[in-house]
Amino acid sequence: MQILDGKALSQKIEEEVKKGVKEFKISTGSVPGLAVVLVGHDAASQAYVSMKKKACDRVGFYSVTHEMPEDISQEAIENTITMMNKNPNIDGILIQLPLPAQIDTTKILELVDPSKDVDGFHPYNVGRLTTGLDGFVPCTPLGVMELLKEYNIDVKGKNCVVVGASNIVGKPMASLLLNANATVEICHIFTDDLTKHTLGADILFVGVGVINLIKENMVKQDAIIIDIGINRTESGKLVGDVDYENVSQKCSYITPVPGGVGPMTIAMLLSNSLKAAKINAKEKIK
Ligand code: GUN
Repeated sequence: MQILDGKALSQKIEEEVKKGVKEFKISTGSVPGLAVVLVGHDAASQAYVSMKKKACDRVGFYSVTHEMPEDISQEAIENTITMMNKNPNIDGILIQLPLPAQIDTTKILELVDPSKDVDGFHPYNVGRLTTGLDGFVPCTPLGVMELLKEYNIDVKGKNCVVVGASNIVGKPMASLLLNANATVEICHIFTDDLTKHTLGADILFVGVGVINLIKENMVKQDAIIIDIGINRTESGKLVGDVDYENVSQKCSYITPVPGGVGPMTIAMLLSNSLKAAKINAKEKIK
């Protein structure tokens, strides 16, 4: 069994982005800028945003976090986004999800300028991804594809089973795999007999947020396991959706939690933000 080391690869990507930022600064006189909107006090969201901010600092981005109270109005968030859309110092806009119940999330995500949509959540970018066109791709599934590439794992013709059908992870993961010529199956909360499906996986992708959902009797011998879950046990330990101790005895490759997919998400956010800055710099020259 071999570990897919997302921590090591994310550091390599971070170094490349850092170099890219220096070059960008020389050619344009400015640095890429990322704006983050964080609403409420969700502990996980606060932790993610803090990690993203630190990563921005490490590579030399300008970054700003708009922290808003839990009871914020739709209009107030929309006004902030409109302002960021117009701000030439902001190249990327990230709305940390989930937003509180009173907010229409779809409307918020649709308001983000697609050329600044570094999370790839705007329907314009979702459409480009499903049709196989270049655009912004959600950071977590993009990070998974980079990790597979790093280890020379080609998904072409492989049976890829994705467990979880969220807009953030499962659906874009499936689109990326399909675009790379894999045979793709998506399982979700209403899937009957999950084991029947997961046992057929050459590569299994799991991102649902349920501790120990995938046990060793659910995976084929020598399968490749990509654990996209992040959960905290009662004792505060960080774990994924896969029973790592037992499944790792049976598979050929596995991503650990922490240190697998998680750091890749942040690396891809940096990479998407630099890409946005380059696109927006070209637009300014026009
Ligand atoms: N909430 C959980 N994951 C993510 C993510 O990748 N991006 C954003 N914006 N919010 C999230």
